[in-house]
Amino acid sequence: MVLLLTILLTNKENGINRFTPLQKFKSANSQYTTSDTSVVPFQKKSLGVRSAIYPKPALVIGSYDKEGKPNIMTAAWIGICNSDPLSISVSMRPATYSYGNVTESKAFTVNIPSSELIKYVDYAGRLSGKDVDKFKETGLTPVKSEFVNAPYIKEFPIVIECELTEYHDLGSHRQFIGKVIDVKADKAILDASDRVDVNLLEPLIYADGNYYETGRWIAKTGESLNKIDGKPFVPDYSRRYANEVLEVIHNRKSVRHFTDQPVSKEQIEVLLRAGMAAPTAANRQPWVFYVVTKRETLDALGEQLPYAKMLSQVKTAIVVCGDMEKAGNLIDKGYWVQDCAAATENILLAAESMGLGAVWTASYPYDDRTRVVSQELNLPEEHIPLNVIPVGYPTGEDVPKNKWKKENIIWQ
Ligand SMILES: Cc1cc2nc3c(=O)[nH]c(=O)nc-3n(C[C@H](O)[C@H](O)[C@H](O)COP(=O)(O)O)c2cc1C
Repeated sequence: MVLLLTILLTNKENGINRFTPLQKFKSANSQYTTSDTSVVPFQKKSLGVRSAIYPKPALVIGSYDKEGKPNIMTAAWIGICNSDPLSISVSMRPATYSYGNVTESKAFTVNIPSSELIKYVDYAGRLSGKDVDKFKETGLTPVKSEFVNAPYIKEFPIVIECELTEYHDLGSHRQFIGKVIDVKADKAILDASDRVDVNLLEPLIYADGNYYETGRWIAKTGESLNKIDGKPFVPDYSRRYANEVLEVIHNRKSVRHFTDQPVSKEQIEVLLRAGMAAPTAANRQPWVFYVVTKRETLDALGEQLPYAKMLSQVKTAIVVCGDMEKAGNLIDKGYWVQDCAAATENILLAAESMGLGAVWTASYPYDDRTRVVSQELNLPEEHIPLNVIPVGYPTGEDVPKNKWKKENIIWQ
C-alpha cells in the first residue's frame, strides 16, 4: 500500500512532480496493456443519489425579517441560473429563518467570502436568526442595500443585490430566484479593468462537510480549443510539483509577450510586499522600488535599453534600485546587489503565482543602461537601478525552461 502510494504521488523522473489526474489517466490507461490488474482504469462505482457537485460554493445570504432586523445564513445550494436577466437561485429549507424573510421581503443579498472569513460563513450556517442576532454575535456590519430591501455584509469582498422574481417549492427546499440588480466589490480585489482577480479574492469552496481554499490560476477559458491534444494547457500540467511553492518556482519564466490587460495598483503592491520580504544583509533593506506607469517613460526605457523592448507592451514596470544611503559603509556596502537580487526574484515568483508575467531586464552593472534608467526616472545619485521589470498579463507564448543539469552539482 505504502509502495503504491509512493508510486502514485511521485514522478519517476525526478521524484518531485506531483501525480496529476491526467498522469493518473495515462498511467491507468497504459496498464490495460500490462498483466497488472491492480488498477482498473475508468471503472466507476455507483454512489447512489448524492449531492455530488464539486466544488460547491459556501455563500452567505442576507435578508431582513418583518421587523427589519438583518439576518444572514450560509447557503451551498446556490448558483447562477439565467443570463438575461442575470439571475441567481438559492434553495432554502422552510425551517430556516431566512426562508420566511426572503418570501416576505422579496429580496436578498449574496455575500461572497474570501477564505479568511470562514469562521463567519460557518457560524451563519450553524445557528438560526430565530435564536440569535448573528450580526451582533459576529460583529459583522449590516449595510442596507442600495437597490433592494435586504442587508449586505460590509466586511465581505463581493456583495450581490437581488430582487426576488419567483420561487419554486421543490420538496425539501424552496428555490428562490433573484434578479441581480447590482454587484459591489472591494477595490482591493479588482484588477485595473475592474475584473475580480480571483487570486486576490481567495475564494472559499465547500464540499461534503469541509471547507477548502482555492484561487490558484491555471489557464484561460478557451485555451483548450487550440491545445486540446499534444500541446499542454498553460501552465503545462506535466510541470506540477509537490507543493505550490515548488510549482511557482519551476513554472516561473521570463515573460516577453504581454496582453493589453493592465495590472492594478493592488496587484503591484502584492508584488512589492513579496519583494520586501526578501532577506538582506544585516537586515539593511538597502532598496527602493520605483513603479513606472507613465507611457512616455516606459517607451523611452524600451527604446534605449537593449533587452527591454517588451516595455512597449506593458503598462507598468518595477525598477528595483539599491539605495546607497541604506547600504552600509564598510565592505558590506556591496551586499546591496545580492539583497536587491533576492527582492527581484521574490517579485518574479509572486508574479508567476498570480498569473502575471514579468522579466528581469538588467541595468546595473552596465554603466550605459544605468545612466539611461537614472536619467529617464530622474533618480537621485544614491539610487542605483539594478533592473527594470516589466509586469503584465502573459500571452502564454513564453514557457519555462528546464535548467536541471546534474553536471552542475559537485557532491563532496
Ligand atoms: C456550508 C453550509 C451550507 C449550507 N447550505 C444551505 C442551503 O443551501 N440551504 C439551506 O436551506 N440551508 C443551508 N445550510 C444551513 C443553514 O445555513 C442553517 O440552517 C442556518 O442556521 C439557517 O439560518 P437562518 O435560520 O438564520 O436563516 C448550510 C449550512 C452550511 C454550514
